[in-house]
Amino acid sequence: MSKGVSIAVVGSGYVGLVAAACFAEIGHSVVCVDNDEAKVRTLREGGVPIHEEYLPELLSRHRSNRVEFTSDLRSATQRAQAIFIAVGTPQSQTGSADLSYVDAVASEIARNIDSYKVIVEKSTVPVYTNEWIRRVIERNGVSREHFDVASNPEFLREGTAVADFLHADRIVLGAETERAAELLKQIYLPLSSGDYYRSADAVPGARGENDPPPVLLTSTKAAEIIKHASNAFLATKISFINVVANICEAVGADVEEVARGIGMDSRIGPKFLRAGVGYGGSCFPKDVAAFRYVAEQMGVDFCLLKEVERINEEQKRRFFHKVRSALWTFRGKKIAVLGLAFKGGTDDIRESPALDIVKQLLHEGAIVTAHDPAAEGRAKEVIPPGSQMRYADDPYTAAQDADALVILNDWQEFAELDLNRLHYTLRYPIIIDGRNLYGPATMLEQGFTYLSVGRPGLSHTRDAAVGQRLP
Ligand code: UGA
Repeated sequence: MSKGVSIAVVGSGYVGLVAAACFAEIGHSVVCVDNDEAKVRTLREGGVPIHEEYLPELLSRHRSNRVEFTSDLRSATQRAQAIFIAVGTPQSQTGSADLSYVDAVASEIARNIDSYKVIVEKSTVPVYTNEWIRRVIERNGVSREHFDVASNPEFLREGTAVADFLHADRIVLGAETERAAELLKQIYLPLSSGDYYRSADAVPGARGENDPPPVLLTSTKAAEIIKHASNAFLATKISFINVVANICEAVGADVEEVARGIGMDSRIGPKFLRAGVGYGGSCFPKDVAAFRYVAEQMGVDFCLLKEVERINEEQKRRFFHKVRSALWTFRGKKIAVLGLAFKGGTDDIRESPALDIVKQLLHEGAIVTAHDPAAEGRAKEVIPPGSQMRYADDPYTAAQDADALVILNDWQEFAELDLNRLHYTLRYPIIIDGRNLYGPATMLEQGFTYLSVGRPGLSHTRDAAVGQRLP
């Protein structure tokens, strides 16, 4: 087993907390720092503030032995060999990333450096951030031989974050000195050597001892760009398939067949070609805007990304009109909504297309009863329950006497509904599916009027069990 490194992770959001738990899991000694005292207390007492598979297990496995929580950045800095900055980089009004948290943390680290440290950007940041961190630290009187700034972008997805971290497609290490690169390589050695996967209680995933994740050593600037460009490319793929879906819809083709056909080309690949209600979450919208801003600052015209954003907005609007096309008017209509988080498997509602659509339904006078397996609590903070907005504990309670059911995210359980039960629970058997979780033919057979994305809308008529294409 490789030698454990003493690590501080600053910020205990999705990236910071998962990274801290996973660094502990691969044998390092980790201090996770957050200035939110209440959060630190929760974490110390065994609470897990986010919904993430395997995270509770890893935290309870390593808490108070290899991972601890504190709000004391000073002592964490002094104890650590590597300090990972994983604080938020929210979107500012111009679209650029607001780096004030990174700046504040870098200054505080600088004030407490007492021996050589590698300061690693883990948050998604624009190119040149490492330069700024270096300047901030130097300005605070720390000389160059006492620190290096490196970039180690994180590619985990919410909902599968732990498995994504431990079974990464690649590990990108951006460093300018041999010394920093060596420490980062040592940190990831349990994964890159395949050692971790030999352990009996390793978190399962795509990687194994004979197929460990490759390490890519780059410059810090390249590492920063790799992160932004990856997210921007994935968002582009989604907007692309959404437009293709709209063409399919216009001509009566099925986008699922088209996506399969495109994705079988190994140069394109099958992933991130699922048409739907548009992308959301705390990353894609923010990172596409930030990368576009970076390009603008460098005098590079990246208008492609503007289109990606426009198409994404348009996709939500189109879906809303699809719901309208099935119901004609909204005032007083009861609509069951499945899904509030920006995708299935998470409780995160940031930039959720589902919430945008629910707000629009409420605005037009509909009465909404929503269910989401994990995001209800967070959604209630944004849309409190009331006479027009209700929350249900399961899909069937949500569907009770509703004029239609609308599916807005892709929790696995939404794809496994008891269609028979749903049919007699709904007032009218109408389903508008923003995630293509069902086959149109099956839904027709089951007696539903079924509208989805990029596939012909089929209406079940009572007189004849045949499908009619909806206009
Ligand atoms: C995304 C990236 O996938 C991660 O690699 C990255 O590390 C992360 O952002 C980040 O920068 O922190 P995440 O936001 O958790 O991860 O969610 P994704 O699974 O990528 O989904 C993003 C959005 O795209 C969701 O709204 C999802 O429903 C939508 N999506 C995804 C589609 O509409 N179609 C698809 O085919 C895939």
